[in-house]
Amino acid sequence: MSVGLDIGTKTIKVVELSKDAKKPALKSAGAISYTLKTSIDKMQDEKELADLAQSIRKLLKDSKISSRKISISIPESLAYTRIMKFPLLNDQEIASAVKWEAEEYIPIPVKDAIIEHKILERQEVGNPPQVIVLLVAVLRELVEKYIKILSLINLEVVGVETELMSMARSLAVPEKTVLILDIGSVSTNIAIAKNEELFFSRSIPTAGDAFTRAVAQSLGVSMEQADQYKRTYGLTEKQLEGKVGKALLPIFGAVIEDVRKTIHYYQMETKGEAPATIILTGGTSGMPGVASALTKALNTEVVIGNPFAKVEVEPEAAKNLAPYSPLYSVALGLALRGD
Ligand SMILES: Nc1ncnc2c1ncn2[C@@H]1O[C@H](COP(=O)(O)OP(=O)(O)OP(=O)(O)O)[C@@H](O)[C@H]1O
Ligand SMILES: [Mg+2]
Repeated sequence: MSVGLDIGTKTIKVVELSKDAKKPALKSAGAISYTLKTSIDKMQDEKELADLAQSIRKLLKDSKISSRKISISIPESLAYTRIMKFPLLNDQEIASAVKWEAEEYIPIPVKDAIIEHKILERQEVGNPPQVIVLLVAVLRELVEKYIKILSLINLEVVGVETELMSMARSLAVPEKTVLILDIGSVSTNIAIAKNEELFFSRSIPTAGDAFTRAVAQSLGVSMEQADQYKRTYGLTEKQLEGKVGKALLPIFGAVIEDVRKTIHYYQMETKGEAPATIILTGGTSGMPGVASALTKALNTEVVIGNPFAKVEVEPEAAKNLAPYSPLYSVALGLALRGD
């Protein structure tokens, strides 16, 4: 059994896979609404930590999760992922070069960070020949905070990675370059993955909540009413004389601009191809009109990601995939890890 837990700002999701057969099978999954009032890096109050732990305990119980060993993701906004480039050094030389140079790439002291690197590509015939390396760093203190929260309910953390590393595993496809766009409640995460491997990631603080606020302000309605409008009409132009779409468009435009920048930066840094497909995920990808507005703006194929495509789904487990299956792409990617 293998369990992935995604503690988002508005929803907590969990997925358990059984890995006895050749293809992993979905054993159970579940999600609950739970608003983090403080982001986990700043959460100090013992009661707040305990409340979060108890909600996780309830979710795991309701979802009939059996294993006590789980993997977790660190929010992309609290992780530092960078592309490093080296001349054609061997693996060992790269490992020590990463150690020496990491400090220049990340805004946190190396001594306080957990740092990992992965060699992505050896471009031996390029000009100049180079090795592309992905550097990922997170504050050790933050990982310890997660471990502490989960230890309150007797869970053991067996794997930690960033959200986009998980999503690259669940959503990206072999032998293709894709862009993953995860629009959540407070963050939008953007990744470029090539051959199921994360090559580039970025996080911006513009997502579902910003859309709701824009509708509330522009139409002079409450946040609850705005949330309803956003979910019902989204970016479609026809309803309510297009007022909702008009309010959402400037914010959505900012997201699109960041997607463009990401593609441009990725191509400059790695000399890679532009992504052939944009894979949409996260709760806010359910907003009507998102996919077609993206296709129109970027002239690229856009699909809603199905995180369950790589696993066997048993009918009994599928019943709990409400309310919206793309919510599970982080938790599923975590459960697909090797540990
Ligand atoms: N059908 C829908 N249309 C529009 N928005 C939706 C829909 N369903 C859910 N949402 C929005 O999706 C968000 C929750 O999505 P998700 O679970 O991906 O976020 P999160 O992981 O909790 O947040 P974050 O990743 O930003 O920390 C909420 O803002 C919610 O309003
Ligand atoms: Mg999320």
